[in-house]
Amino acid sequence: MSVMRRIIIVIFLAAGVTYVILLCNLWRTNNYWLPSTDSDRNTDQLIACTLKPSVSAIRKLGIFSPFLCTSNFLQVSEQHGNHKFELPYGIRKAERFFQMALSRLSYCGLFAEDNGSPSCKKCVVVGNGGVLRNKSLGETIDSYDVIIRMNNGPVVGYEGDVGRRTTFRLFYPESVFSDPVHYDPNTTAVLVVFKTHDLKWLKDLLSGQRLIRTYAFWKKPAMQLIYKPHQIRILDPVITRKTAHDLLHLPTKFSRHEKPKHPTTGLIAIAFAFQICSEVHLAGFKYNLEDRNSSLHYYGNDTMFQMTQNEYHDIAAEQRFLKELLDHKTIINLTEE
Ligand SMILES: *[C@@H]1O[C@H](CO)[C@@H](O)[C@H](O)[C@H]1NC(C)=O
Ligand SMILES: *[C@@H]1O[C@H](CO)[C@@H](O)[C@H](O)[C@H]1NC(C)=O
Ligand SMILES: *[C@@H]1O[C@H](CO)[C@@H](O)[C@H](O)[C@H]1NC(C)=O
Ligand SMILES: *[C@@H]1O[C@H](CO)[C@@H](O)[C@H](O)[C@H]1NC(C)=O
Ligand SMILES: *[C@@H]1O[C@H](CO)[C@@H](O)[C@H](O)[C@H]1NC(C)=O
Repeated sequence: MSVMRRIIIVIFLAAGVTYVILLCNLWRTNNYWLPSTDSDRNTDQLIACTLKPSVSAIRKLGIFSPFLCTSNFLQVSEQHGNHKFELPYGIRKAERFFQMALSRLSYCGLFAEDNGSPSCKKCVVVGNGGVLRNKSLGETIDSYDVIIRMNNGPVVGYEGDVGRRTTFRLFYPESVFSDPVHYDPNTTAVLVVFKTHDLKWLKDLLSGQRLIRTYAFWKKPAMQLIYKPHQIRILDPVITRKTAHDLLHLPTKFSRHEKPKHPTTGLIAIAFAFQICSEVHLAGFKYNLEDRNSSLHYYGNDTMFQMTQNEYHDIAAEQRFLKELLDHKTIINLTEE
């Protein structure tokens, strides 16, 4: 009798385990960008918004706030798997630096506190590509709810082609404006952390310390911040990681002699947009790799030649991914004639 009972228990347990495994697999294939964990005001409203099926397919992150908060970043990082990866894909070995930088920031919310209801946002991600020159897209770009720009792509002097408004600007120390002429009080500046020195840099500038050592940077970083502490956020590295691994399928391991390839800020900005917007349009994302003399950006004199020399990005993979999104009409190309 007791043997029979034991067998039945074992069968039940086995069935239970199988069920859980099946469920996990289903969950993973549908939702490999993490299930929902946060429940702050902004993200609740994002859930209420109906997404185009193609957007929800790409929004595999689940719903969570894209910025780290000083109060719970260790906990959130563990939920997001950030504790297992080093920068730029996680916080491993840099926890202390994240803590130092985050403790200097006054907000970690998505939209400014006074900005009514951040529900269904129509967003445009404005790349810095030379394709924006003389297209007079400024007014169209300004008509979106949310305008996401990156690095030091200027607005001042280029309003007719790229618009005036900037809701979010993704940056890193080597790419952020240092000239106050570019200051915009309505911008939230989002630090994409690539190395521990980026966090130290932010902490030092916010606490009014002078930067002494700048050797750890790719090129000279900004020596002053034009943004106020309440305008600054730190991007959750899970977004950079998912951009590299899940969207671009960049290799996760590199041999000793290879330079690791990371996504461009432009692609990270697109992944960020999918995280917070119900509709995503693009402008200025063309790289004309064939014509090395064509202008790289809508400003300045750099040519495509500079980009082909870049060893840190996989431009071909990024172009393939963008083409896929455009072909499936997940995103719309504003620069299209
Ligand atoms: C853009 O327009 C200006 C003024 O009309 C012109 O001088 C310039 O060559 C044009 N640039 C391009 C890339 O077409
Ligand atoms: C910032 O927002 C205010 C209020 O909406 C607006 O009046 C102002 O023109 C904006 N400034 C810039 C630089 O966009
Ligand atoms: C690019 O510019 C260089 C130097 O100005 C010139 O020699 C070359 O012919 C140009 N190539 C093309 C494809 O226009
Ligand atoms: C770009 O080239 C033009 C003409 O050669 C020059 O006047 C201008 O200062 C250059 N701009 C920058 C940002 O170097
Ligand atoms: C957007 O459209 C323009 C104009 O047709 C094209 O040159 C560009 O490559 C397109 N952008 C992307 C990312 O495909």
